[in-house]
Amino acid sequence: MKRVLSGIRPTGNMHLGNYMGAIKSWVELQKDFECFYFIADWHALTTEYEDPKRLKEYVEEVTLDLMASGINPEKSVIFLQSWVKEHAELHLLLSMITPLGWLERNPTYKEIKQELAHKELATYGFFGYPVLQAADILIYKAHFVPVGMDQLPHLELTREIARRFNYFYGECFPEPQAKLTETPKIPGVDGRKMSKSYNNAIYLSDSREEIWEKLRPMVTDTNRKRRSDPGDPDRCPVFLLHIAFTPEGEREEIIKGCKTASIGCIDCKKILFDQLMEKIGPIIDRRAKLSKNRDLVWDILLDGSKKAQEVARRTVEEVREKMGLNYRVTR
Ligand code: TRP
Ligand code: SF4
Repeated sequence: MKRVLSGIRPTGNMHLGNYMGAIKSWVELQKDFECFYFIADWHALTTEYEDPKRLKEYVEEVTLDLMASGINPEKSVIFLQSWVKEHAELHLLLSMITPLGWLERNPTYKEIKQELAHKELATYGFFGYPVLQAADILIYKAHFVPVGMDQLPHLELTREIARRFNYFYGECFPEPQAKLTETPKIPGVDGRKMSKSYNNAIYLSDSREEIWEKLRPMVTDTNRKRRSDPGDPDRCPVFLLHIAFTPEGEREEIIKGCKTASIGCIDCKKILFDQLMEKIGPIIDRRAKLSKNRDLVWDILLDGSKKAQEVARRTVEEVREKMGLNYRVTR
């Protein structure tokens, strides 16, 4: 069976944008592949190094989010990056053969640095981020890597590093392929892109009540002042969420109802809430149950990290051997 690997940075609880964009496809891939999914805590540190106080909490929360979403620890290996130290060794060894120019031209690096201009990111760790990512992938000799568009340059770099390694030291790494995950743009409750930093996100860890309390006060078409005024869905952030979650047929009804003022905005938000709950209700219920047993999270991560480490250790041994570090001293 071909192997899939992907990672997620524990920088906050998972919201609907993260779920719809990535994790849903991770869940589906479990059917056809041997999957390794990990919490990329070292990667989180590359940007959050000044304030790592919540790292542990986020590792726990994101693992709960994955499990509630349907990542099944019986089927897939769920692990914590920093517990498999072999990633660090392979990162170091791959850094030897990675030309600086390959890192400098990385567009994602330039973008994030600009986005996070308030942080000091001219660091060694952040610059080398894609080499660490290459190590994450190659250490499991993964064939497929589900990622969003923004990660394609990292995948390309991973392939280049694999090729260069194989060329210098002999065939070792298959060239991994990106499996582009759909990136439906999920709007937040203010109509902008859903994001933790905009404070407009709906989280898998929210309760049903909390989600309704986020939808209920949402701004609608600002021209629709009274219930009797007709509205225009194209001017309404609630409708943007309908586009993401309500099937087309029912959406047509809403458009009609809104334009003729035969439905009110609260009715419209209730329909949205019901649609949302149909899709993620079971996940948030499962999430609420799981979160009562936090020890379970760490048991899963311990167990998964052991399994991951067995594979990682073998690869690193092979790499050491190929790179001339095959000292065998017996006494
Ligand atoms: N860089 C990825 C992101 O920000 C996270 C990540 C780290 C990753 N290592 C990986 C993804 C290996 C896929 C494979 O989303
Ligand atoms: Fe928006 Fe729905 Fe109100 Fe129309 S009825 S303005 S789409 S919330």
